[in-house]
Amino acid sequence: MAKPSKSAKPHFFCSACGNEEARWFGRCPACGAWNTASEAPASGGTGASTSKGNKPTRARWAPAVPGAAGPRPLAEVESIEAARAATGMREFDRVLGGGIVPGSLVLVGGDPGIGKSTLLLQLAAALARAGRRVLYVSGEESEAQIRMRASRLGPVPEGLLVLCETDLESLLEAAAQAKPDALVVDSIQTMARGDLEGGPGSVTQVRECGLALLHYAKGAQVPTFLVGHVTKDGAVAGPRVLEHMVDAVLYLEGERYQHYRVLRAAKNRFGSTHELGVFEMTDAGLREVANPSEAFLSETRRSEPGSAVVASLEGTRPLLVEVQALVSSSFYGTPQRVTSGFDSRRLAVLLAVLERRVGLRLGRHDVFVTVTGGLTLDEPGTDLGLALAVASSYRSRPVLEGTLAVGEVSLSGELRRVSRVDARVREAAQIGFVRAGVPRVQADEAKGCGLEVTPLATLREAIESLLGERVDPRPARGGEPGEEAALGR
Ligand code: TYD
Ligand code: MG
Repeated sequence: MAKPSKSAKPHFFCSACGNEEARWFGRCPACGAWNTASEAPASGGTGASTSKGNKPTRARWAPAVPGAAGPRPLAEVESIEAARAATGMREFDRVLGGGIVPGSLVLVGGDPGIGKSTLLLQLAAALARAGRRVLYVSGEESEAQIRMRASRLGPVPEGLLVLCETDLESLLEAAAQAKPDALVVDSIQTMARGDLEGGPGSVTQVRECGLALLHYAKGAQVPTFLVGHVTKDGAVAGPRVLEHMVDAVLYLEGERYQHYRVLRAAKNRFGSTHELGVFEMTDAGLREVANPSEAFLSETRRSEPGSAVVASLEGTRPLLVEVQALVSSSFYGTPQRVTSGFDSRRLAVLLAVLERRVGLRLGRHDVFVTVTGGLTLDEPGTDLGLALAVASSYRSRPVLEGTLAVGEVSLSGELRRVSRVDARVREAAQIGFVRAGVPRVQADEAKGCGLEVTPLATLREAIESLLGERVDPRPARGGEPGEEAALGR
């Protein structure tokens, strides 16, 4: 891993993505951001490739990695799989891939105010309740504030230690003394090493502090959780190298003004990145949601035009989610396409298929699409439901009550097979659905899962067979004469 020229020459890195370059640049060659070049401090080098040429500053706080003496037969290395520890929060365990791995470094990212501190304090308390010592270090809140929050979350256990600190070396000293079984650092952007230039949150500080905590986690075999704030465009603020060096990156997501929070792994060295944990923010912190499918279906189950239920496969778990579409005549030049929780480019593709293959004239209509519960859908099996919702709104015909729609829509308007259709159908059957529209090629797989199966070859066929009687659209204030004529049949 040694880099060819690791001389003391100054080099530059991008403060947006952490990319390093030997020369100054106006635009980062890696991420394309402008004016992000910063000069790197003398201690360069990234990742764990520090076995050679240790800088004295680093050696001071980096504990020796056990067994780093030389190559060893892999077969003789003990697996840590068996040593996974349950956290006491089942949804969290699921996302981690089945519990905490000793010595793992986990980054928990999310928008400010989404509930990261709450989640990790709850995690810390759950671990402490299970008899482990947990050190919760905060650079953002005072002890009293943390205590106040902890009291909301339930009885405060004995083994939960708190420290308010922003100086990394003091943090590591405290950790060395306290010898916790788990460490939480809230947040990595508030930590700083005194011997480095740049304030807390700067790329250098975030990177070096992350690296120091990586050494601590691996050296002392203490699972360590870092909170990281996320910038507007979705990246964990600070260099990407932080994402590279940690074992897992979890994101806590959700609409801020809705109750549901979804924890998902963007990277996981110990498990799948498709698993997802669902929580609900309550007065007493985050509550695990036992049956997420029910949660993501809107409370009113009456079928309204424009609403459809899709089954999104998230890891091993199918989730039933309601999608809503509103199609209305556009009064301005360019019709609007607004989505929330669904990729707008994918929507554009589906609209084009609806236009060309089904004959819906959507070109002069605004189309709005939302996914309920603040969830984001990015799975092809949800195509059909989404297209159906749009068609349903356009034609003012509700989707037949109790209907699940599963299928990927191809550009030719045909329905393609999706993975694990049986699991999706079974989930719907459990919640009381009666019918499932599935790609024709998969009808046999879907049968026997408790629902009446409607095999569908094309999107056009799906719209013909899954939409009910036309209902008159509720007149908007002032009415919309002529709307009837514009709305297909
Ligand atoms: P917080 O964990 O501070 O967010 P982050 O660390 O991601 O910035 O969560 C803040 C929000 O959560 C805040 O708006 C209040 C809300 N909240 C509850 O609704 N119930 C609770 O029990 C707690 C502790 C917080
Ligand atoms: Mg916080």
